[in-house]
Amino acid sequence: MSEVILRMEKMAQGGDALSHLEDGRVCFVSHALTGELVKVCLVQDKKDYAKGIAIEILEANKERIKPRCPLYGKCGGCSFQHASLEFQKESARVAVEELFRRFAHVELPLNWQIAFGEPFAYRNRVRVFRVQNSPSKFCWGFREEKSHKVIPIPACPILSRGLEKCLQSEKLPKVPELSLFDNGEGRISFYYPGMPAADFEKFAQNRVHIGGKEISMDSSVFFQSNLGLLPELVKVVKMAAGEGNRLIDLFSGVGFFAAFLEESFEKVITVEREPGALRHARKNLHSKAENIALPAEDWLLQNDASRADVLIVDPPRTGLPPQALDAICKACPKKILYVSCDPATLARDFAKIALSGYRIVQAKGFGFYPQTPHFEMFLELGLL
Ligand SMILES: C[S@@+](CC[C@H](N)C(=O)[O-])C[C@H]1O[C@@H](n2cnc3c(N)ncnc32)[C@H](O)[C@@H]1O
Repeated sequence: MSEVILRMEKMAQGGDALSHLEDGRVCFVSHALTGELVKVCLVQDKKDYAKGIAIEILEANKERIKPRCPLYGKCGGCSFQHASLEFQKESARVAVEELFRRFAHVELPLNWQIAFGEPFAYRNRVRVFRVQNSPSKFCWGFREEKSHKVIPIPACPILSRGLEKCLQSEKLPKVPELSLFDNGEGRISFYYPGMPAADFEKFAQNRVHIGGKEISMDSSVFFQSNLGLLPELVKVVKMAAGEGNRLIDLFSGVGFFAAFLEESFEKVITVEREPGALRHARKNLHSKAENIALPAEDWLLQNDASRADVLIVDPPRTGLPPQALDAICKACPKKILYVSCDPATLARDFAKIALSGYRIVQAKGFGFYPQTPHFEMFLELGLL
């Protein structure tokens, strides 16, 4: 693999720095920061672009810091630890603004901000894999960066203290992979594929207390992984939703947002593909809510979302499925609240939604995953 020396021009979305090769192609460089002069090992050579890894920093950005975790660069988790938190915040802000300019030709509201919580020990949910250390010993590990190999993790600075301690204990089952959740109050639940029903009841079930509510969940379903910052997201969603007749919560998981909003609406519908999550929604919401186990796109084709005063969407990283996006644009509900874990797909989806007459009333970021290039975005969209 060839090596080149490059000056980093700016940060790209996703945490890599961006530079140009002599032939004019863009080169994305991991572990580098804006302005740095870097010796780069090229690892991907495509027609339109290349990718590389910084192997030596010849001139460093003053915001470069020493990564706290000894596994930085090996573990696939925290690829942004070489940047100060201030740099991480600023590059997240710039990246989102550029995405909205590029995909949707709009500027985000002038005063929009990204809220950050604790930089370390914040992560309440994790999936780990079992690795054999020696013929008689095993421990838990994460996937190596850009590979499927698993490396042992003796400690992890972003995990909640409870999770970190639990992973070092001998009590966990000896299964190939495990999903754990720390509810922040001393209960750590876990799940593995094929778990017997009796063990599921005993070990996988959990509950979270937020804003005076108890939310039922378990370790096999989706739940936000930063409990420290979650109340802030709930507050913003609740304020933006206000009150009304009909609330539709698509990609609703355990009915998380609807649980906080149901008292302000006459009729509540939640739609979630995973039956396991929906079982909790039935507990988390009161009887007036209708909880439907369907892909959101199928429900939208069979039902009329135009009657929603508020439509919440919180899709996975891939964004809204095309059929769901089309149906939402046609239905034109009064207000759309879009919660997203990938600003690129959010900007892409917003570009389409904007063609139906929506504008951004409010934008807010949530730094749910410090030390990584990922964060959560919230948009309140209203009709012009
Ligand atoms: C990012 S999570 C959000 C869950 C919930 N809003 C919360 O905050 O806990 C996305 C959820 O969408 C569900 N999902 C994924 N694709 C879906 C689809 N096509 N239709 C309905 N639900 C889907 C997943 O199972 C997951 O529960």
